[in-house]
Amino acid sequence: MEILELYAGIGGCAVAAAGRLPVIAAIDQDEAAHHTYVHNLDHPAHRWNLVGVRPERLAALGASLWWMSPPCQPFTVRGRGRDVDDARCQSFLTVIDRIEALWPDAIALENVPGFAGSRAHARLRAVLRLGGYQVDEGLRCPSELGVPNRRRRFYLVAHRHAEVRLPPIPDPAVPRRPLSGYLDPEPEGTLYLSDAFLQRYRGALSVVDARDRLAICECFTSAYGRSPVHAGSYLRDDVGVRRFSISETLALLGFPATFRLPNDLSEGKARKLVGNSLSVPVVARILDTIRDMAGPRVAP
Ligand SMILES: C[S@@+](CC[C@H](N)C(=O)[O-])C[C@H]1O[C@@H](n2cnc3c(N)ncnc32)[C@H](O)[C@@H]1O
Repeated sequence: MEILELYAGIGGCAVAAAGRLPVIAAIDQDEAAHHTYVHNLDHPAHRWNLVGVRPERLAALGASLWWMSPPCQPFTVRGRGRDVDDARCQSFLTVIDRIEALWPDAIALENVPGFAGSRAHARLRAVLRLGGYQVDEGLRCPSELGVPNRRRRFYLVAHRHAEVRLPPIPDPAVPRRPLSGYLDPEPEGTLYLSDAFLQRYRGALSVVDARDRLAICECFTSAYGRSPVHAGSYLRDDVGVRRFSISETLALLGFPATFRLPNDLSEGKARKLVGNSLSVPVVARILDTIRDMAGPRVAP
């Protein structure tokens, strides 16, 4: 089973797939995401716009599992929830059409919880039904896997020739890792918040304590560092209250310490790319489950 990583971003799915399943190609139109991907990963990465992508181009890649994390703004309140009427949903409608044209063996999708019940969701489900796929879907969060970070997301897995299920989570067998294990030993001084900022947003900030072994931080979104509230937690340590560094947010997403963002990326762009990515341990579990359950093909 070989993966085509659609909407690859910085390659969260490829990082999760390492040692599990081969990734044969990745597609994303964004220059900085592409740059970051090729900086860290060896798989062929194409800077293509998926809107109207020709079926032959996807067929030529020869993947049997299409992983996709389409843009989530059409399904969020902040993005106005315009669903299929949002221009940012157009590429996903193309991808649904390409599923109908090419019928890859397996599909996996990650998106915000608001995707569930959307018109885009209904359209995808209708095509999967037409193609005879068996489907499982639901919400999963890395905090249910012992990671001290919330990132509740909707996942869908589908297979044409086998029954696949999302992995059962929470998993009581996974030990909880305290937040302290994800923190930089020497955080940059520029991360600390001024007294004026703390006064202004007092009561509205989510602040977790570095010494709290049970602390769980909120989901870090692409607006973290730009939007003062509802974009992720702040950290209280021995020095003061600060933002989490980019390397700490990457670690909380499950990226290895060897993963590097290109030096020429602005902080804002880097935060955006990282906030758009996904939880590597959750996706790794899902890939394991698809690989183990799909097994040999049982019917043409
Ligand atoms: C939610 S992010 C996915 C992030 C990815 N899972 C990761 O690990 O970084 C959505 C991605 O879709 C890409 N994208 C949006 N519209 C696209 C289009 N029309 N064609 C190709 N890529 C697109 C964006 O550049 C962004 O990287």
